Amino acid sequence: MAKAQIILCVLGVICCADAYKILVVFPFPIRSLNNLGEGYVRHLLKAGHEVTFITAFPLKNEQNEKLRQIDISSNHQLMVSGDSTFSIKSVMDGQIPMNDVKMMQEFGLYSSIMMFEHENVKKFLEDTSQQFDAVIVDLYETEIYSGLSALYNCPMIWSYSMGAHWLVLRLIDEPTNPAYSADYLSSNVLPFTFKQRLEELWAQILWTWTKWTSTMPKEKEAFTKYFKPLLENRGRTLPDYDQLIYNASLIFGNEHHAFGNIPRTPQNFKFIGGFHIESPAKPLPKDLQTLMDNSKDGVIYFSMGSTWNSKDLPESVVEGLVKMFGELKQTVIWKFEADLPNLPKNLHITKWAPQPSILAHPNCLFFVTHGGHLSSTEAIHFGVPIIGVPIFFDQFININKALSKGYALKVHLNYDLPRNLKAAIQTMLSDSKYRKQAKELSSIYHHRPVPPGQEMVHWVTHVIRTGGAPHLRSPALNMAFYQKMYLDFAALVVAIVVAVVLVVKKLCGGRKAVAKEKRN
Ligand SMILES: *[C@@H]1O[C@H](CO)[C@@H](O)[C@H](O)[C@H]1NC(C)=O
Repeated sequence: MAKAQIILCVLGVICCADAYKILVVFPFPIRSLNNLGEGYVRHLLKAGHEVTFITAFPLKNEQNEKLRQIDISSNHQLMVSGDSTFSIKSVMDGQIPMNDVKMMQEFGLYSSIMMFEHENVKKFLEDTSQQFDAVIVDLYETEIYSGLSALYNCPMIWSYSMGAHWLVLRLIDEPTNPAYSADYLSSNVLPFTFKQRLEELWAQILWTWTKWTSTMPKEKEAFTKYFKPLLENRGRTLPDYDQLIYNASLIFGNEHHAFGNIPRTPQNFKFIGGFHIESPAKPLPKDLQTLMDNSKDGVIYFSMGSTWNSKDLPESVVEGLVKMFGELKQTVIWKFEADLPNLPKNLHITKWAPQPSILAHPNCLFFVTHGGHLSSTEAIHFGVPIIGVPIFFDQFININKALSKGYALKVHLNYDLPRNLKAAIQTMLSDSKYRKQAKELSSIYHHRPVPPGQEMVHWVTHVIRTGGAPHLRSPALNMAFYQKMYLDFAALVVAIVVAVVLVVKKLCGGRKAVAKEKRN
């Protein structure tokens, strides 16, 4: 009996030796970002780890006792969605400043402040019995969360919802050369023209200037305010912020090389694009399954994503779209968040759409999308071509990349949407090359040594086991700009040249004086 117990004990130690405690932080009250957070939680739990999830969208019906959730859903007030100030119509009417650098930086900072101010988070962080083996945080425009790795004295892993990008590469390597890497708020795709190269250079200068002069001082203040007392509680002192933010072990990028336009990356940038997509896709609800199965002429799926609502389109545009869709042979599934009377027979609206499952259906012809990063990834995952109607943020560059890869069409968001979308739909229906190209990219995307979720779990455990994976760090990180640019050497050369010139001048001057004396 005792023997059996010992064996069980040993087995227990062996099989659970790799179970780690991981803190996953997704502070933004934005549905699509949280989908990525859920991806981490799902894969890490499946691998047997203990996960604490700070989220504005707590998972319901999740029975796993290894999951603890810190609910910050009251932070939804940060996004004034549904309000006319932040709707598709206000973008169309030019009432929202487009992709303003300062606004983006402050959005990142204020959402972090809201998280640290949240009662549930405060209580959780003050609890000195909490220990973690690694922290994974959604990285967006602020590095203040690196304080969490100092708090728990463990490795920091960033999750970046977009692809490899100079803004985040600068944290683990160096900013990429703007001559061949675009800012996420720009819409330029390679190869750049002379003007576009200047635009990209300016984007980096403007961002850096805004951060240094405006956002960073506020960030440091908040960092000190929240982390100093927490660290002192644990008997430790506040580390230097300027060093701490460059101490991350790894960045996960939500991208894959099939999308193109990717700059070179250091070894601790890992591409896990598509890891949030459940494979195989969940079965469709019965009504949608029947509808799609019976759509002999195929299905067009239309959604403006989870942050933007189709119901906020101007009334005349909605009417125009309904009429235009009614003239098609195909079935149209439109994610529309309100009731619409008198719909044509082939048009089906749904307030919530199980997007991956719709895209996975073989009758799905193409996807009319705003071009959000996750929607774009899902389109490639399931090999479905797209018609992009970008609204805001990185959607312009996502759609432009898709255009350059040949599996997409673009339509401008304006009051002419019904007419322009109709033309694009006709092109899409009459030319099979878009579908062919989407399928080809999809096969590149799926051809990997392991699925992205598994790869993510591998790197998380690798970082923990190796004490933060110092061997993966880029040598560029610890070099001063003047050293990388050999400015010290250049200064030395200049100094030598100046010295030589001075000496030669002096000698010549001396000789002239001697000659003068002789003549006299
Ligand atoms: C820096 O990273 C290492 C390795 O991940 C970690 O152990 C350490 O706690 C971090 N330093 C600070 C000050 O957070």
